[in-house]
Amino acid sequence: MPIYDSGGGWVLETARTAYALGIDERGQLVHRYWGPRLPFADDYPPPSSPREWAAFDSPAHLARTEYPAYGGTSYFEPCLKVGFADGTRDTRLRFAGAELRPGEPPELRLALRDEHYPLALTLVYRLHEQNDLVERHAILCNTGAAPILVERAFSAQWQLPLGKHYRLSHMCGRWSDEGQLRREPLPSGTTILESRRISSSHHHSPWFMLDDGTAQQEQGLVFFGALAWSGNWKLCCELSGQGTTRASIGLNDWDFAYRLEPGESLATPACVGGLSAGGFGGASRLLHAYLRDRLLRERREPRALIYNSWEATLFDIDVESQGRLAEHAAALGCEIFVVDDGWFHRRDSDRAALGDWWPDARNFPKGLTPLIDRVNALGMAFGIWIEPEMVSPDSELYRAHPDWIIRFPGRPPTEARNQLMLNLARPDVQDHLIATFDHLLAEHDIRYVKWDMNRNVSEPGWPEAPGDARELWVRYVWGVYRVWGELRARHPRVTWLSCSGGGGRADLGILGLADRVQISDNTDATAILKIQESFAQLLPAPVLESWVADTNAERLPLAFRFHAAMAGALVIGGHLARWSEAQRAEATELIAQYKAVRAIVHGGERYQLRSAHDSPFPAILFVSEDRAEAVLFAFRVYAPDPAEMPALALHGLDPEACYAVEGSAARRSGLSWMHAGLSLSLGNFESAMLRIKRV
Ligand code: DGJ
Repeated sequence: MPIYDSGGGWVLETARTAYALGIDERGQLVHRYWGPRLPFADDYPPPSSPREWAAFDSPAHLARTEYPAYGGTSYFEPCLKVGFADGTRDTRLRFAGAELRPGEPPELRLALRDEHYPLALTLVYRLHEQNDLVERHAILCNTGAAPILVERAFSAQWQLPLGKHYRLSHMCGRWSDEGQLRREPLPSGTTILESRRISSSHHHSPWFMLDDGTAQQEQGLVFFGALAWSGNWKLCCELSGQGTTRASIGLNDWDFAYRLEPGESLATPACVGGLSAGGFGGASRLLHAYLRDRLLRERREPRALIYNSWEATLFDIDVESQGRLAEHAAALGCEIFVVDDGWFHRRDSDRAALGDWWPDARNFPKGLTPLIDRVNALGMAFGIWIEPEMVSPDSELYRAHPDWIIRFPGRPPTEARNQLMLNLARPDVQDHLIATFDHLLAEHDIRYVKWDMNRNVSEPGWPEAPGDARELWVRYVWGVYRVWGELRARHPRVTWLSCSGGGGRADLGILGLADRVQISDNTDATAILKIQESFAQLLPAPVLESWVADTNAERLPLAFRFHAAMAGALVIGGHLARWSEAQRAEATELIAQYKAVRAIVHGGERYQLRSAHDSPFPAILFVSEDRAEAVLFAFRVYAPDPAEMPALALHGLDPEACYAVEGSAARRSGLSWMHAGLSLSLGNFESAMLRIKRV
């Protein structure tokens, strides 16, 4: 059993790592070890109990408490803060029992209770042995007769080994400029990254990597964690005066409260954490493997090639315009034709119609079926865009249910993109959405749904809330999960895309439901290289929908634009009817090349050979699982001449085996390609896709 009771507590061992915790002399559950796996149970340090030595730094403060609660003389960022009915606002947790559950994955459950008040806490640890990951969440239960007000309930606190000054890697940005990758030393005090917008990932993304400042892309020890939550989240990285470093992550407590009724439980989202000795790339590949093994429906299968008509036709949609595009898309080799925004009742612009999810009778007099039939006759599946969480004030839905929106009672709700947000915390709103989209999917042969979300929350009120109105922050996200989960279960043949103005909701929570995410609304290929690289810290290539549209087409060669998007899940979004014959012929050839390599891109391991964030020569290598084949994407963005591309050191090959690189007569060992490297010469905005084979 990879989880065992070591006498001094518990040890959780994965293939290469270990996590240990135990009970200290004061009866507190404390952290013991997180690092490489060690040979013997006694190798792991016992629980330590700091001595009393100064009034300002009590043992309660200095102890490495596993899941600290606000209370007493402990001042580090707590995981838990609650208020009891009598006004007491602190918590004193005591260990109350442990349970080991074998199974797949095996699980350790540790029970804690408040010394005096009726609050029970269960800390759950699941071990993903082969993925080198520990998955954690907490369950709070009110065992008393009066409500308890929960003001913070994080999923986990990860304590880093002592004696290092850590550097935080994270992703920041904004709409259309997602995915700025940052690696910054932690300053003293608490560094907070968060979302307050009810979605997860345009501005920061709910994951972290921490290293001692020396790790590189493929070497060095990197600790990391990621939260499976699609709403408001918070990461607190705290470097204390004592030199300890902790990363706490969970539901954001900003504007948050949850009234836990007697007998009620609250489970936090799951958080996975791990460490890799193989640098940032190694950490990412562990996360990719976890997603493939535990979250995604398709593991290593090549994903279908999409055509999406949004950038070509915007709201100007009818059977004819879409039919003509579909013919071009099919001729190129596309496999799913997606009609984006604009197909439904009176949707002429973004000023009206969200909520009225039936085909616009003016443009689709016989409904969607004639277009679907035409698309199917061309050999493609049909896909459609929806934005379930929104309503336009100018819509039949809003006129019938003005009380269904998120709002404060005494303020006019602020519109964004002329739309308001439905309150998905309400079960009646959830039921309506399930019925509406169940009907759409049952009535039509739709195989792909793009679920979009095009604004952030404002006036986050819920006048009819049965509990505390601030529960909206979590109940809304649970509502999204329920609606989506129900539709997915009822329509298992549908592939789902999570889009929120591009990459606004790309997290491990939504990937329990969505098969793919749209990485950005920015379809410039040089931006895609950066955004894709950043999302790939967490997510594998087959999940990252990357577009070839017409943005900067005059500046960037078609091949460059294709190669950038081909390193993810390719989507064609250009106005094909306006492309020249020569462009369509070139695109057809590039698509054939993509299909020939996508099993490796989607099923293989991803190596970022050079970063688009700090090199004018970005390069990405995908290596098949058996290391027999690889595909290299190499680019040169603008670099003033003379600029010689340094030799590219490949990664992930079998060092002993012999490989040939397309276009070169050389047969060299994997070790040679990885150390002596591959010489390429590219001009500004040129790119290459090269296949590498074991010979
Ligand atoms: C935002 C998405 O990111 C776009 O791709 C497109 O679907 C529009 N919404 C449609 O309104």
